[in-house]
Amino acid sequence: MQGANVLTKYLGAIFDLDGVLVDTAKYHYLAWKQLADRLNIPFTKEDNEQLKGVSRVKSLEILLSLGSKNYTENERKQFMDQKNETYVRYISHMDESEILPGVVELLNQLKRKKIKIALGSASKNSGLILKNTKLQDYFDAIVDGNDVSKAKPDPEVFLLGAKKIGIPANQCMVFEDAKAGIEAAKQAGMLAIGVGTQENLPNADILVKNLEEIELSEL
Ligand code: BG6
Ligand code: MG
Repeated sequence: MQGANVLTKYLGAIFDLDGVLVDTAKYHYLAWKQLADRLNIPFTKEDNEQLKGVSRVKSLEILLSLGSKNYTENERKQFMDQKNETYVRYISHMDESEILPGVVELLNQLKRKKIKIALGSASKNSGLILKNTKLQDYFDAIVDGNDVSKAKPDPEVFLLGAKKIGIPANQCMVFEDAKAGIEAAKQAGMLAIGVGTQENLPNADILVKNLEEIELSEL
């Protein structure tokens, strides 16, 4: 959809992080792939698609289901820690060049219009990513995997974001690239703006290929 108009009756904007503001899926993939290789589990880039927007625990569950062995809770915890260590090594080298197209322009437009901005991410690493890409100062509130107990599609992360910026849920718009995130936004009663394709995000209220396509119209 070209030049999607998002009406400025929305006073809050909540952004997913991975896949919306930055392309970290490649680092998640490399880190999970390293673990999968060690465990002799076949794991491809296509398999990695299933992990987008999904919590770390659930991601590991999906990865292990591609193999045939069972692991104890303790082993699974170690696997997650090892994957995260590898992932953090990758994201430690990130900088502003990895911000996705249209992100900075949209954040600046929202600021000018005095629309409150929150992060609503499943990641427990959002602090490091926002710091390295120098995006952190745009946010009035940050809610990530460290703050919530229920993963998307549960609406908890977005409802908490709305609460932190003091805007009612029905006046918030959510920018999301994952199906589970679109479900979460809709369950929260927010406008769900999908960043992706009709095929991946059939339930989005508005669909754009990337944030360059968003235009905030004056009412
Ligand atoms: C989501 C990603 O934003 O965060 C998922 O799309 C990831 O792929 C999840 O599993 C949790 O991230 P982290 O950084 O806490 O392992
Ligand atoms: Mg995402």
